[in-house]
Amino acid sequence: MGKDVIIACDFASKEETLKFLSKFKKHKPFVKIGMELFYSEGPSIVKEIKKRGHKIFLDLKLHDIPNTIRKSMAVLSKLNVDMVNCHAGGTKAMMKAAREGLGNKTILIAVTQLTSTDQNAMNKDLLIKEDLNKVVMHYAKNAKASGLDGVVCSPLEAKKVHQVCGKNFITITPGVRFKENAKGDQKRVMTPSEAKKIGSDYIVVGRPITEAPNPIKAYERCCKEFIG
Ligand code: C5P
Repeated sequence: MGKDVIIACDFASKEETLKFLSKFKKHKPFVKIGMELFYSEGPSIVKEIKKRGHKIFLDLKLHDIPNTIRKSMAVLSKLNVDMVNCHAGGTKAMMKAAREGLGNKTILIAVTQLTSTDQNAMNKDLLIKEDLNKVVMHYAKNAKASGLDGVVCSPLEAKKVHQVCGKNFITITPGVRFKENAKGDQKRVMTPSEAKKIGSDYIVVGRPITEAPNPIKAYERCCKEFIG
């Protein structure tokens, strides 16, 4: 599995996003398009970024009944992105439907428990009484059994996911910071070299690159530390 750094392009508009990506002359970074950008600009932003030669992770975290998911994934498959995702909490039936709708050529990733959901919220709000780590591993196993390729997980969970689901099951880890950076709103963070050590397959990096004084240098540093 190819290790790579994915830049989270959390911008509100096409103009800002393309202005940012135009700074990259030597590189064609793998780009994550999230809900904010997709809902404001629609499929045209995906087509535009693809036309420029970037790989795309379309991070829309689908979660609905299997029939709706199957049909929505079939529509998304026409955008020819490289990676999409859905919530493992939608059940195995939903994840299988996602795979059927999407086909096999796009990487399909599950979101287990969001990193914003802690043990207390999961127990009290969702009424799931188990240990959070156990739930994450159970959802990862469900994702694998449903034909998905991997999971988004916190850097602290990546190693365990590989132990439970095998080394070819992809782990994508956000929450990456350089040693000297502020954590922002991320609670459990790791440096790119630490993420490499624990065996993450892809790291998703937003603000440490997008808000860096020199985003190209920050991206190159991430690649050097993570890929080597
Ligand atoms: O700016 P920062 O590096 O914190 O951005 C991380 C990106 O990863 C954001 O786009 C965020 O939505 C995403 N993400 C996350 N935690 C998850 C799943 C996705 O931070 N569990």
